[in-house]
Amino acid sequence: MTVKTIEDLFVHELSDIYSAEKQLTKALPRLAKAADAAELTAAFEAHLEETRGQVERIDKVVDLLGIRLKRIKCAAMEGLVEEGKDVIDSVDPGPLRDAALMGGAQKVEHYEIAAYGTLCALAKQIGYRDALPLLKETLEEEKATDEKLTMLAEGGGNRRAAIKAA
Ligand SMILES: [Fe+2]
Ligand SMILES: [Fe+2]
Repeated sequence: MTVKTIEDLFVHELSDIYSAEKQLTKALPRLAKAADAAELTAAFEAHLEETRGQVERIDKVVDLLGIRLKRIKCAAMEGLVEEGKDVIDSVDPGPLRDAALMGGAQKVEHYEIAAYGTLCALAKQIGYRDALPLLKETLEEEKATDEKLTMLAEGGGNRRAAIKAA
């Protein structure tokens, strides 16, 4: 697609993250299954539910603004999902794989945080006042997920990985 205006850029960025969220709804069940610690499986499952809600929130933004999303595939998320598959292929189930899965999941969250942060800034600039709270809500969910993953890693996940490896 050609991007010539800030409105075009907003549509492009929203289309990109829409693709990213859709890819994640397919990847998260696989990650939940691959995790060893029950709390990590639960965290992935909880974020799957949230992610489905985030897709619906984008649909609401689209309706609200009367825009049309472009059919694009988020190449970054495709790569991050691919790396998650590599982890599953290369690390046996257990604390070490969990540590790798948590790290990969945080890369995903950071990508999403950057994407929604950009969308919020663009929406503000353009004056999409009604869409802004929806985008902010998702931004906060992504940040909370990132923090939850940090807590899981620091709260023993990575220590267990170190003990197992020693
Ligand atoms: Fe998301
Ligand atoms: Fe997320």
